Amino acid sequence: MPTDAIIAEDLWKSFIEARGFFKRRKSIVEALRGVSFRVRRREVYGLLGPNGAGKSTTIKILSTLLLPDKGKAFILGHDVVKEAEKVRQVIGVSLSVERGFFWKLTGYENLKYFGLLHGLHGDALEERINYLFKILGLEELGARDKFYEDFSLGMKARLSIARALLHDPPVLILDEPTLGLDPASSRHIRELLVKLSREEGKTVLITSHNMFEVELICDRVGIINKGRIIAEGSIMELKKIVVGSVPVVFAFYLKHDKKFIDSLFSEILGSNDFAVESQEDYYRVRILVNRGEEDDIIHRILEKIRSIGGRVKEVRIEEPSLEDVFIKLTSSTGGA
Ligand SMILES: Nc1ncnc2c1ncn2[C@@H]1O[C@H](COP(=O)(O)OP(=O)(O)OP(=O)(O)O)[C@@H](O)[C@H]1O
Ligand SMILES: [Mg+2]
Repeated sequence: MPTDAIIAEDLWKSFIEARGFFKRRKSIVEALRGVSFRVRRREVYGLLGPNGAGKSTTIKILSTLLLPDKGKAFILGHDVVKEAEKVRQVIGVSLSVERGFFWKLTGYENLKYFGLLHGLHGDALEERINYLFKILGLEELGARDKFYEDFSLGMKARLSIARALLHDPPVLILDEPTLGLDPASSRHIRELLVKLSREEGKTVLITSHNMFEVELICDRVGIINKGRIIAEGSIMELKKIVVGSVPVVFAFYLKHDKKFIDSLFSEILGSNDFAVESQEDYYRVRILVNRGEEDDIIHRILEKIRSIGGRVKEVRIEEPSLEDVFIKLTSSTGGA
């Protein structure tokens, strides 16, 4: 049986963090607390989790940029600690905070430099750069002759993926490839990643906190929270976790703080199966209720909001999504 493309086995990583104004107080942050998952060959795998969940730390370990405190990881059978050089030959990496490009060189010159580092040269390098400019849409954005310092965020993100692809690696590891990009750029990158997996047989690991994105392109997903994988599977498998639940979204204005909203919803629902987003006194709350109970619950919530001076803008029953899986998993485990 061929091995999986990426294997992470019980990865642990702590950081010492300096806190306070003078950074004198030190505390230990457990970024990874036993992360295990497997990415099969040729699939697009999404590591999905909120800020601080441990996504970038995991990516850095798999890319040989950071050593784990404990645990093992393999890329195409190569140990990321003991065979780092071999691992680097088979992976293409793009980190969310990119450094290393030359500000005073053009897009073309930057790629040429990194291509030479990879041992490419002559016509082969020229052809590869042309191909990458084309598939990343960099050519039509004028990135070839523009200095990197004049690149837009979208162009920088695309060039970073182009660089990851220069040596045509079988495995791509991308940390938040669409972070901060406009919808058109995000779509372009998403479509490209699917194409690279389907047509070129590449294994693609991305991290994201965007459930919509992960649902769109990933064959399988690992949900990471507080340094642990709390669920793994295809989108269909994950959605089974919320079978029998109906998501309802409430949008309303209310002059109370988030803590108050939290206690109001947990009291009415009798659970923590909800997520609150707020902007000043505007709230968007997504709740999960058992099928058949939605009418009664909606009625009670609306009555409550109105009785305390709230103004309801919208109530909507939705289809279950990955967001609901996340709500269910983090509420029932208390997020641990
Ligand atoms: N070099 C570091 N020094 C101290 N703490 C760190 C360091 N790198 C990460 N951390 C901490 O480890 C935890 C996990 O961080 P990580 O960057 O892996 O999260 P993430 O899932 O990528 O989050 P985000 O969505 O914000 O990018 C966080 O609490 C973070 O503050
Ligand atoms: Mg990150």
